[in-house]
Amino acid sequence: MASADIFDRLKQDHDTHRQLFKKMADAKDEDQLQKLFEQFKVEVTAHAAAEEETLYATMLARPDLREDAQHSVSEHKEIDDYLEELAELKFNGEAWRKKFDQMKKRYLHHIDEEEEEMFPDAAKDLTAQEEERLGKLFAKRKPAELERAESEN
Ligand SMILES: [Fe+2]
Ligand SMILES: [Fe+2]
Repeated sequence: MASADIFDRLKQDHDTHRQLFKKMADAKDEDQLQKLFEQFKVEVTAHAAAEEETLYATMLARPDLREDAQHSVSEHKEIDDYLEELAELKFNGEAWRKKFDQMKKRYLHHIDEEEEEMFPDAAKDLTAQEEERLGKLFAKRKPAELERAESEN
């Protein structure tokens, strides 16, 4: 991407997550589903961490944007809790699938809400320069967070 601001980069990741959900729904066997699910976990954990370190850190420091940022960060925690609960269940068993469907619904809600509410609210407050700078910072932080999520997975 030639010149990607923070919102372009975050939305691009969200599209990857939506695609991973589609691929998981179409998985032809349990092995494939497991590989895709592991990929999803690492990707989403790293995305949320880098998102918090860049956009949400900036938003938290601004009184007008603080509430939006707090809402999103608490949803990250909720998804994290779902992933932990899923890890305790028999993979692809009945309870796992039920929990997975709940997590999927919540996560899709989360990224839709970010795109429809949080990002437009933030965009009103940030300058083009800040959006560009945060985009570059996100691109730098994401690989480090992927490595970290991979090692903890
Ligand atoms: Fe998020
Ligand atoms: Fe996000």
